[in-house]
Amino acid sequence: MRAPSPFDLDQPALYARWRAAKLAAQPRRVEELIVDVADPRALTAAERQAMLALCARANMAVYRSPVTVEDKELPRLLGQQLGLHRLDANWLADEDGISSIAVSPEDEDGPKGEFIPYTNKPIRWHTDGYYHPQARRIEGMILHCVRNAGEGGVSGLADHEMIYLALRDANPEWVRALMAGDAMTIPARAGDQGVARPAQSGPVFYLRPDGGLQMRYTARTRSIAWKDDPHTRGAVAFLEQLLGSAQPWIFRLLLQPGMGIVANNVPHERSGFSDDPQQPRLLYRARYLDHVRDARVAAPQEEVTV
Ligand SMILES: [Fe+2]
Repeated sequence: MRAPSPFDLDQPALYARWRAAKLAAQPRRVEELIVDVADPRALTAAERQAMLALCARANMAVYRSPVTVEDKELPRLLGQQLGLHRLDANWLADEDGISSIAVSPEDEDGPKGEFIPYTNKPIRWHTDGYYHPQARRIEGMILHCVRNAGEGGVSGLADHEMIYLALRDANPEWVRALMAGDAMTIPARAGDQGVARPAQSGPVFYLRPDGGLQMRYTARTRSIAWKDDPHTRGAVAFLEQLLGSAQPWIFRLLLQPGMGIVANNVPHERSGFSDDPQQPRLLYRARYLDHVRDARVAAPQEEVTV
């Protein structure tokens, strides 16, 4: 049996305590999210602790490093130090499960060009993999900047626990509606060979087995069907208005080369950008079935050569 949770609507006292602690710990400025690290591939104990603490406090941390080389191992090695092990395999990702996000050369016709992450268009608020089935829920992500755009490409980040708090304060029935397993349905997507992806229904907010809160969301209005009842409609309208407004806990930053975001798949957005053709924007994106946690991994065995 699960321990009593502050996210249970029948636990108002627990919620009040959680709410007070959450607000007291809430970062006030984006600078508070930033940890300077010498090399994300090999964090010092203090750097690692600082990032874990931020993820516990705000579900996200931003690192700033001088490492600007093209090294796709970087996000993988960083993730391993923060409890992120199970990379999600994406058919568009490169073979090693980490996606290179850049404007696709075959922008108009190629398979990647259909998907906004591979264009320079703005991306609205979403969590990664919101369309995934329950067995492949994305709970952690890393976004690492190798090169930024000539202009634009600003990231917006919103801690989903603050979104939950605002929603519950406004109307607890909206929370109930968005925790329903049929709140949000992504219709089946047809491919050339028939159905490429079956319809997926799921909640917006759900609890992990460890009691932590996760969110699945998209502000897209096409290719998504919300449950047609007044509370769901009210909640969705509230979320859209909330994320479109200025909130002290909605942070915006421009990732510079060597910087990146580690997060428990918090909702994020990106402004449009224009590339410097000599130095096109390149980000690495790793999506995980794990959330950030302080699980020390066994040190890899030293290879002994004789
Ligand atoms: Fe994303």
